[in-house]
Amino acid sequence: MKLPPRVKIVEVGPRDGLQNETRLVPTEVKIDLIDRLSQCGLSSIEATSFVSPRWMPQLGDHRQVMKGIKKRDGVSYPVLTPNLFGLESALEAGATEVAIFAAASESFSQKNINCSIDQSFDRFAPLVKRALAEGISVRGYLSCTLGCPYEGLIDPQQVAPLALRLLELGCYEVSLGDTIGTGTPQAARAMVETVARKVPMKQLAVHFHDSCGQALANVLACLDLGIEVVDSSVSGLGGCPYAPGASGNLATEDLLYMLDGLGIETGVDLQGLVEAGNFISQALNRTTGSKVARRMLCQKKETKKKLLSNSL
Ligand code: HMG
Ligand code: MG
Repeated sequence: MKLPPRVKIVEVGPRDGLQNETRLVPTEVKIDLIDRLSQCGLSSIEATSFVSPRWMPQLGDHRQVMKGIKKRDGVSYPVLTPNLFGLESALEAGATEVAIFAAASESFSQKNINCSIDQSFDRFAPLVKRALAEGISVRGYLSCTLGCPYEGLIDPQQVAPLALRLLELGCYEVSLGDTIGTGTPQAARAMVETVARKVPMKQLAVHFHDSCGQALANVLACLDLGIEVVDSSVSGLGGCPYAPGASGNLATEDLLYMLDGLGIETGVDLQGLVEAGNFISQALNRTTGSKVARRMLCQKKETKKKLLSNSL
């Protein structure tokens, strides 16, 4: 197996994670989470979305979140923008990186952003042009690259030209999303290999939801192909209200544990990440979705108990 020496983790929990919560998460909690994450050595933390609050009420406090976070040097805080309107609001709020999001499935495009794939590219073109003119970098997402909640399996041949279109528009990187988390390592490999025939591997990232427990295996299969950027979400938060059946993203703690174990450098501190994940899990009143965090928190409790009984 040929693995890269270094991997960049793009933390998407504050956006992809919190967009899927049924109850509104207080703005201060979101800000606190982002600040805790930025202390862990992550270099990219997706902070929120400048989408319509009618479509995504969970992230309707995007301006306050962007104004409230302590921006650390060396950390990028990308935000999702579906159209020029969203970009203008993001610029006003001080965003320095944005992400556009297209889909490899017509039905998902309609359900998620209320337009066809072609229409979405028509909307993105002026957005990207304006962002680049302002010196703002643009990341591209492509959703449903392995499966769609409405259309089933997606052919990699459908994915590759759309990834290329995102790059040609001016995105510096395309994140290939398994939005409903149904992919397996073989399918993920085939899809990435097909896309990489049109787009340089160095400009591709992967984004796996973990609905079927395949996310880590999928990441490993893609690292072996040369992928060096992986999206994940602290505590395994995540999903999309427009993708029924999708569960959370791959937990960042679990991803980091695997990368550390493989000797792959990330610059991210696992202990700090587990604490940030514990903070948001407690705020949401649930146990963490990360297996690694569960074990580390349990060990911490046991050690505390032992110390206490020794001191008695
Ligand atoms: P629309 O209803 O077709 O938009 O929605 P419209 O242009 O007709 O405007 C309707 C109203 O929305 C107007 O207000 C606009 O001003 C307003 P009104 O005059 O009725 O009062 N509006 C906005 N307000 C705030 N911010 C904006 C904005 N744009 C219009 N940016 C639209 C089209 C794209 C806006 C809508 O469908 C939308 O916001 N969708 C986003 C849904 C979403 O966030 N989905 C989750 C994204 S996650 C994902 O896609 C997958 C990913 O995680 C990767 C993976 O897992 O694969 C990235
Ligand atoms: Mg996602």
